[in-house]
Amino acid sequence: MILAIESSCDDSSIAIIDTKDLKEVFYEKISQNEHSAFGGVVPELASRLHTIALPNILKQTKQYFPNLKAIAVTNEPGLSVSLQSGVAMAKALALSLKLPLITVNHLVGHICSLFLNEDIQNNFLCLLVSGGHTQILKINKNYEIQILAKTNDDSFGESFDKVAKMLDLSYPGGPIVEELAKKGKNICNFTTPLKDKTRLEYSFSGLKNQVRLALNDFSKNDICASFQATAINHICDKIELFMKDSECKMLGIVGGASANLALRKEIELLCNKYNFSLKLAPLKYCSDNALMIARAAVLKYKRAEFANLNTELISPVPTDFRRI
Ligand code: KG4
Ligand code: ZN
Repeated sequence: MILAIESSCDDSSIAIIDTKDLKEVFYEKISQNEHSAFGGVVPELASRLHTIALPNILKQTKQYFPNLKAIAVTNEPGLSVSLQSGVAMAKALALSLKLPLITVNHLVGHICSLFLNEDIQNNFLCLLVSGGHTQILKINKNYEIQILAKTNDDSFGESFDKVAKMLDLSYPGGPIVEELAKKGKNICNFTTPLKDKTRLEYSFSGLKNQVRLALNDFSKNDICASFQATAINHICDKIELFMKDSECKMLGIVGGASANLALRKEIELLCNKYNFSLKLAPLKYCSDNALMIARAAVLKYKRAEFANLNTELISPVPTDFRRI
């Protein structure tokens, strides 16, 4: 078994996976609701809350300690003070239990959320939509990760958070905006970003400004409906450019915002149009969680890719995002 720790942002999570059959042996996550009043994650507060939540979860896993073969932890990218809490605990566990330490890139973890209980596939397109990232990726036949497109400014999830803040809704904004959008109409006439450009990139900050200008003229529900429809349109426009002449025929969607059902629906339509199969993570494991980190760690364990305990290990930006 491998025990994995995730604390890159505002979720404290620990999972244990069986390396042989990939079964989930233990899973727990504590989300920090304390940030909601601030409209975003306060790093110092996140770090302090991890130091309370992580030991509380770890206590429940003691019975599995004799079965552990390795300790895994998210070491990048993320808030450095948050990453630090998980990495400190992982190092202490590895040292005291005399086990190897495996570091996992959080984004690789999100990709692995598509294959929690099965072999990892290759040769597919993957849309990564989280709070920190919005990217179209190609996982090549040799499991190399190629970044095909990314956002120039805000991420898809972040733009939901910022719109929620403008509308005096709480954090994280994604699920709340999606809920209000169901009750509203797409009547604000927002223009889809980079619509006429064949440039393969995303930009959400202009759309955020369109929302700001509409605040006094429309209801919250209609703003949410219009914003969400436009943001999803923008996502779909650019993916379609790749799907049109792609030789691979599978598309995965990962990251916290992949829980958005309106996004899933529109992408499903695109997949039908271009004869793609759509691969999704279970809703429970779309947002940050340690099970996806454990799944990614199984691969590294099999390749004997272990970390050096005497180095800092953490990085706020991705340094190890070349292959699954
Ligand atoms: O992957 P994740 O849990 O954390 C990061 O790695 O960033 O993603 C969190 C992001 C937040 O910005 C949140 O507002 C967004 O995902 N999100 C959503 C939805 N659920 C979460 N965005 C749109 N619709 C949702 N239903
Ligand atoms: Zn994430």
